[in-house]
Amino acid sequence: MERPSIRSYSIRGTRITEAQRAAKSLLQEIHGIPVENKKLDLGVIFPASQKIIMEIGFGMGEATAIMAMQSPQNGYLAVDLHPPGIGKLLSRIQELGITNIKVIEDDVHVVLPYMIHDQSLDGVHLYFPDPWPKAKHHKRRIVTPAFLELIASKLKPDGYFHLATDWVPYAEVMKAVFATSHQFSGGEIDKPDSRPVTRFEGQGIDKDHRVTDLLYFRKP
Ligand SMILES: C[S@@+](CC[C@H](N)C(=O)[O-])C[C@H]1O[C@@H](n2cnc3c(N)ncnc32)[C@H](O)[C@@H]1O
Repeated sequence: MERPSIRSYSIRGTRITEAQRAAKSLLQEIHGIPVENKKLDLGVIFPASQKIIMEIGFGMGEATAIMAMQSPQNGYLAVDLHPPGIGKLLSRIQELGITNIKVIEDDVHVVLPYMIHDQSLDGVHLYFPDPWPKAKHHKRRIVTPAFLELIASKLKPDGYFHLATDWVPYAEVMKAVFATSHQFSGGEIDKPDSRPVTRFEGQGIDKDHRVTDLLYFRKP
């Protein structure tokens, strides 16, 4: 499986203890999906009645757990590669008895092309992706024309892509990238009640930290 040469994530702060690692791999057997070069049969993983939503970069997973409990009609594929956060979400799922989240530990640039069938997702969430504010790091931002193409290929027609960021300059870049895409229509929306406030959500301290929600639909 080919991996991107530029990382959209930071590998700092990813260490966990041996005990945490052992607990994580035990829970991964129950609530995780192993990464392999094989497309998932989502109809077997989730009940046929559930809509399939992928959450990219769930961080510590508190918002993911809340959403999953509030929306039992959805099945959530939660993708991240931050070991402490993965451990945290797995134990939350176990403690709260959540049945509609499956956790995949890897870069979404690997998960989407190798493990997800085209036109199989009802929705994608990308909440507070790393903003990479320094100019020399802009190339690490996850929202690019190629990324939108990848997301579009995996969404069902009329499927949605909901993004949120607390970095206004990044929100502007996201809008500009969507404007170049022929596959999506949509734009800025008020924060929907369905999105819980996440850990990384800015406090609205200054104008660069105003939270922007963007909602786009894959054109049929
Ligand atoms: C700033 S945090 C936001 C976390 C969470 N959504 C929140 O709002 O609290 C960004 C998260 O995205 C994850 N991430 C970044 N690039 C990723 C990628 N290519 N694939 C999967 N996860 C990624 C990081 O590991 C991190 O946990």
